[in-house]
Amino acid sequence: MASFANPFAGNVPRKLTREELIQAIRLDIAGELEAIFVYDAHVQATDDPLVKKVLSDIRDEEKAHVGELMTLLRHLDPEEAKHFAEGEDEVREMLEELNIVAKPPSDKPESTVGSLIGK
Ligand SMILES: [Fe+2]
Repeated sequence: MASFANPFAGNVPRKLTREELIQAIRLDIAGELEAIFVYDAHVQATDDPLVKKVLSDIRDEEKAHVGELMTLLRHLDPEEAKHFAEGEDEVREMLEELNIVAKPPSDKPESTVGSLIGK
């Protein structure tokens, strides 16, 4: 967490290497997931309809941020993207074994990590 009392807290002595940037993006994703968890907990903890609506909207924006950062991570680290695709394939196989039909997002055609590699 940044220390706002320190005016130099945001200063950095150098640019990140590619590996450090990849690590930073992973940390950013973790931060977005934590934010989703906290906003959702607050939504569940209140009956105030306005608060529920505003916090739910913010929570969903954080979910979009996860998508942006995951796309960025796949771009920065295609090898890691292959591992993501392997995991997705494993779950698809399990869905098929259980005769469960996977639903693509309702407003987009189905895309996978693998289909985004090289784009
Ligand atoms: Fe965010």
